[in-house]
Amino acid sequence: MLKAVVTSFVICTMLLMLSPVAKAADVFEVNRKLGRGVNIIGYDPIWRSQDRARFQEKHFRLIKEAGFDSVRINLHAFRHMDANNDYQLSPAWFETLDWAVKNALANKLAVILDLHEFNAMGDDPVGRKPLFLAFWKQVSVHFRNAPDSVVFEILNEPCRGVTAELWDQYYHEALAIIRKDNPTRAVILGPPNWNSVDKLNEFKLPEDDRNIIVTVHYYKPMSFTHQGASWTPTYRKKTGVKWPTSEKDKQAVVAEFKKVHDWAQEQKRPIFLGEFGAYDRADMESRVQYTSFVARTAEKFGFSWAYWQFDSDFIVYDIPNDRWVEPIRDALIPR
Ligand code: BGC
Repeated sequence: MLKAVVTSFVICTMLLMLSPVAKAADVFEVNRKLGRGVNIIGYDPIWRSQDRARFQEKHFRLIKEAGFDSVRINLHAFRHMDANNDYQLSPAWFETLDWAVKNALANKLAVILDLHEFNAMGDDPVGRKPLFLAFWKQVSVHFRNAPDSVVFEILNEPCRGVTAELWDQYYHEALAIIRKDNPTRAVILGPPNWNSVDKLNEFKLPEDDRNIIVTVHYYKPMSFTHQGASWTPTYRKKTGVKWPTSEKDKQAVVAEFKKVHDWAQEQKRPIFLGEFGAYDRADMESRVQYTSFVARTAEKFGFSWAYWQFDSDFIVYDIPNDRWVEPIRDALIPR
């Protein structure tokens, strides 16, 4: 009798071990793997044609060798959807994305698939909602067998027309779609108002979904980080702003990140600082000071982070001259 019980216990244990129901990766562990990251290819002509790509296969290796752990792929996907065919994403778009994900993973970089259509959604949330949901229907199925180190980010910086109320409704709908095929994948969600740290207290998460990483973006003070930036009318005219101007500037960052950290502790959620940086029009010494102080403070509070961005503007890599912007790289990843 005892022998029969022991035998069936052993068989059951073996069956459980062989069971195809994979154990969910711990979301805090996934967030640790995001570690130090960088935003890539959002504004690269690669999406129009691979022949015109600025970003090349070798850049994944260079990013890894520089010491980064992850890439946040910024996806402006709406223009690649077919309005006459259920908003199907084009095969060419998927081909480019598959190429990027494959190469990132091959270089042991975790990947965030970030739907970066915040402007289109902010302009016309109701009109664009079918595209938003169709995007997640397709991407969720397409990546359902991807490893845990592929993470979905539902929408970058919900803003303007995507009010706090709409955001709550829209993200729940997208999350329900994602959970059909990806029941335990880590999903990144952030507060409204451009993922502002100030909106965390008004941001409600689904209590029963524990596989969520919360994101915030940090560009304060905008007068420094966005000086000379054409897309910010308030800050575009005044350049020459330095950072820090006094110890108070640093203490402001610490105080705000501490608030985020305390909120996260209470909510038992990991934090990902998905964007930060200072536009190229600021002086290099101030950019270095700011970039390294924000990155180190984020790390002190246990946040993973992604620098804005590899190429285009705020750059950490100079593609035309094929070299790192070393002061920024070293500010991010101390040698
Ligand atoms: C936007 C960029 C902008 C950056 C800083 C990003 O989320 O996609 O266009 O340069 O934020 O403002």
